Amino acid sequence: MTRFIAYTFACLIGTFAYAQSPKINVNVSQPGAAISNSLHGIFFEEISHGGEGGLYAELIQNRSFEESKVPEGCTLDSGWIIPPRTPHFAAQRVVDWKMPFEAKSDYPAWSLLTSGTAAATITLDLTNPLHTETPRSLRVDITRADSKNKVDVINEGFWGINIEKDETYQLTFYARGTKYKGDITASLVGADGKVLSEQKFNSIGNEWKKFTTTLKATASDNKATFHLSFSKKGTVWLDFVSLFPTKTFKNRPNGMRVDLATYLAELKPAFVRWPGGCFVEGISVESAPNWKRSIGPLEKRSGTYSPWGYWSNDGIGYYEFMQFCEDIGADAMYVFNIGIACEMRSGVYVDDEHVQPIINDVLDAIEYAIGPKESKWGALRAQHGHPEPFPLKYVEVGNEQVGVAYAKRFNRFYKAIKEKYPQLEILAAMGIAHLHQPTVSAIEKMDFADEHAYKAAGWAMTYHDWFDKYQRKDWKLYVGEYACNSGVGSGNMTAALNDATYILGMERNADMITMSSYAPLLENVNDTDWPVNLIRFDNSRSFGRISYYAIKMLNENKATVNLKTLVDVPVVADKPQFTGGLALSTWDTQAEFKDITITSGNNTIYQSGNPDDWKFEGGAWTSANGTIAQTTDGAWPMAFLKQQLPDTYVLKLKAKKTGGYNAFMIPFAIQDEKNYLRAHIGAWVNRIAAFEMVTKGADAIVTQPVRFEKPIELNRWYDIELHVGMTEVVCYMDGKQLMTYTRPKSVFAIGGLDEKTNEVVIKVVNATNEVNPINITLEHAAKVTRAKAITLSATSGDDENSFEHPEQFVPVTEAVKVNTPAFVYPFKPWSITILRIQQEK
Ligand code: AHR
Repeated sequence: MTRFIAYTFACLIGTFAYAQSPKINVNVSQPGAAISNSLHGIFFEEISHGGEGGLYAELIQNRSFEESKVPEGCTLDSGWIIPPRTPHFAAQRVVDWKMPFEAKSDYPAWSLLTSGTAAATITLDLTNPLHTETPRSLRVDITRADSKNKVDVINEGFWGINIEKDETYQLTFYARGTKYKGDITASLVGADGKVLSEQKFNSIGNEWKKFTTTLKATASDNKATFHLSFSKKGTVWLDFVSLFPTKTFKNRPNGMRVDLATYLAELKPAFVRWPGGCFVEGISVESAPNWKRSIGPLEKRSGTYSPWGYWSNDGIGYYEFMQFCEDIGADAMYVFNIGIACEMRSGVYVDDEHVQPIINDVLDAIEYAIGPKESKWGALRAQHGHPEPFPLKYVEVGNEQVGVAYAKRFNRFYKAIKEKYPQLEILAAMGIAHLHQPTVSAIEKMDFADEHAYKAAGWAMTYHDWFDKYQRKDWKLYVGEYACNSGVGSGNMTAALNDATYILGMERNADMITMSSYAPLLENVNDTDWPVNLIRFDNSRSFGRISYYAIKMLNENKATVNLKTLVDVPVVADKPQFTGGLALSTWDTQAEFKDITITSGNNTIYQSGNPDDWKFEGGAWTSANGTIAQTTDGAWPMAFLKQQLPDTYVLKLKAKKTGGYNAFMIPFAIQDEKNYLRAHIGAWVNRIAAFEMVTKGADAIVTQPVRFEKPIELNRWYDIELHVGMTEVVCYMDGKQLMTYTRPKSVFAIGGLDEKTNEVVIKVVNATNEVNPINITLEHAAKVTRAKAITLSATSGDDENSFEHPEQFVPVTEAVKVNTPAFVYPFKPWSITILRIQQEK
């Protein structure tokens, strides 16, 4: 999708560097680490209907009528799913976690419509099932109906069925009946009631019978429904009602939705991590994904309950996952459950003595994927249509599990798998954030550690050298889930700039980080489970967020080897960085503030005493005897100081916690009620202090948390100071420096060499609102002949692609007139730029 514009903007490119200006020097004679071909992969999980009602092209929701069943191992209590009340793996005590059960009826997504004098009922039935694995069917009792007065059983699809004119659809359903002498008419019906396609079936017998047809649509409607209509009395049972567009990705039956699969294929991922995420962990051990249940006839697949609150019918099962990997030229990474349910949820587990069957099951899964076709499970793969081995290269032992007990379990899996399959790379899960050192230390041997990183806007900039400091070990690092996903709306240009900066950090550390995958990948906007996702869609439209294009262009333009790169683009320090208002605040905490003074140089510019100096918003504020008190729970009640402040000042106050969970917040540099910075002393339930940024009302931690030795005490006055300087804010508590904040840099770059083409590849993130002319010098370069720039830019950090303008912000390729190794390149505002500079071969 990169547009190529044969436009030379030589006028913008100066060939002489000017003194004192920002520079990027790339030393072509100093190669660093080789960049792995597998640096960018994808991670698919059943979350936000990424698969069910998403990538999986099935158009009928709840096709097997199994989706009102309670997840295995759990019980239902007053609308809540209750997992087994056995101890949590890490906590070693029973936790009271539960989740609401979303099923609204016994047959979600299905309904009954009778017209005129027709009368009927529908009920879920477990007798005489089509298959014992999927025992539920829909019983339709028709007491009155004729050709004019009909009974319709309707499926709503996934927020409507998208039907396109002249396209064909493959229908399959099973039916049996007693005393039913009529036809069944299958039809696609538009939102206005117009029939878009229909087909009659007859001979409904006492036994289950499969009916299939192709329906061709006469008109388009993305809010269509699917109907099975009955025109005589009697009883009919329905099961496995499935409708697929004929056109699927690579035209596979039981295939993927073309637009979504194409987005994934065009990312050219080196691997696919599957099937989760929390999905792998399940809410109970019994309800976690089971690969054996996900292969073979679709009619027998009983489905998996996603911890994100809905059923997956396992249409994209273990086989389809591997086949998809093959279809897009990616290696497969299979993540499996290790007998521990999600630790962020119930954390229930199978004890160590009962882990061997799980190990055996994983070995079976591997044999199914790559074992010879003569082996037991390899033979089944062949029988399913794939005699050759699948491209399984990686296996991951659980997801986001940490601790010594996990490490011990990991060691058992590692040994058993390596013994049989030494060619496989085995990954250890880490927690939700960064490497977990106690886990790492207790692991005897691993091939990869899988670090996850969900970060707020600005984190990647503040910690652009995060990975540079990691100790190198005898294993590699896989960043299996990363995203800038807070303070960026549903994922805007600011997110893309952060993601790109993060990727530059990974690529610079290519000796250690050889794999990564953004998360989550897909989001059906009708049911969003996670704030920011890479590709957004509904049932008929889709678009890649700007981050999608950032990852795509960075992947397509990987150098083969890093080059030593000096980036000297200082933060512009001639403007004050923290101009704006000041406030006092709390979060689910009661607190008092007194003796508030603000000085600027030698002048006292504010002294507390008059409550009218403050404007109170939210919470319950009182003011008496010079003390301002916030007396209720709730998020972010604010006392705004009405007075305007100079650019730099020193705030001093006394603060006392009188109740609640956290402690004190001091918002400063306030632009408006939704945009400011704040010093948060006692965040994370009174365990840390950190600076936080609030952008459009969303908060994000922007400094490394400072852990307290002991939490802020109740009913004790603390002396707090905030020194707001031109470029730095320092916070003191009881006379000791607690934390500092400086605005992060906003220009980042790395250089590399593409040895195949002899191009120097320079990647630059310019997260400023200005054109940034930077001196580029290629030290020890061969003669430079030509160059091109691939630029992804926007007009502000808030810009986003959308359903209406899906490709508004995509990379643009331009020829650049460069024929010397030193030149000035004007990087566009809000941009990610890749310069490919051709050296003479
Ligand atoms: O990607 C969303 C979730 O984030 C994943 O399920 C889990 O692994 C992580 O916590």
